[in-house]
Amino acid sequence: MIRVFPDLEALSRAAADYIALVGRSAVADRGAFSLVLAGGNTPRRAYEILAAISRDDRALWDAAHVYWGDERCVPPDSPASNYRMAKIALLDPLGLRPGQVHRIPAEEPDRQAAADRYAAAFPAQPDLIVLGVGDDGHTASLFPGHGVLDETAVGFALSEAPVAPRERITITAPAIAAALDVLVLASGTGKVEALKRVFNKTGSIHQTPARLVRDRVWFVDCDAAQGMVEFRADDPQRIAAHGVP
Ligand code: 6PG
Repeated sequence: MIRVFPDLEALSRAAADYIALVGRSAVADRGAFSLVLAGGNTPRRAYEILAAISRDDRALWDAAHVYWGDERCVPPDSPASNYRMAKIALLDPLGLRPGQVHRIPAEEPDRQAAADRYAAAFPAQPDLIVLGVGDDGHTASLFPGHGVLDETAVGFALSEAPVAPRERITITAPAIAAALDVLVLASGTGKVEALKRVFNKTGSIHQTPARLVRDRVWFVDCDAAQGMVEFRADDPQRIAAHGVP
């Protein structure tokens, strides 16, 4: 499903509502909520809104465990750290206990050991993975052309970004596929070409890794959705526009 919003603020409000909704239903059904966060800039506002609208919902947050889908190999207090972004925007405002927050220890010198340990502690079937998309069509730290895309194990692996910080630890494609729900967020004109490639009828995961999640839930703003006109004409039922002219 693809939902198109007028701008990043509207997308962020809807994403915050969606995460809270999935979380409440997971707690009602299974007594716990495993939430896997995305890095990058796009989700920041959604995290802030989520904290603001749900911080009093202790039934939800006391039952939550938070993970990440990828991390840059930097210290956790680095401005480039995905953990740090979420800590400031979401985790500190929610007041989660340290035992509920499971960051990827990507700053450890033995990256492979860090990835293996993280994979061992990661839920087999997370309730929700939030992802972003890069201008080049990457998602998590699964970059076009990288061998990690061929990884068949459910877990975490080492990866390399074309830009700094280059060293990454990323969730593997089979681990994404195991999630009960995946929400992908894309905002801004920089994402137009990537989204065209994701939603083209044909294409390869090696060229556009975000095709791995093309059948999941997408929240896209108008700027990013520009190139999807042809797709909309092709399959109008799949796109729900919210306040979009
Ligand atoms: C990261 C990511 C990455 C991100 C995209 C989109 O660590 O860089 O998790 O996959 O989600 O690059 O980033 P923006 O939201 O900043 O465009």
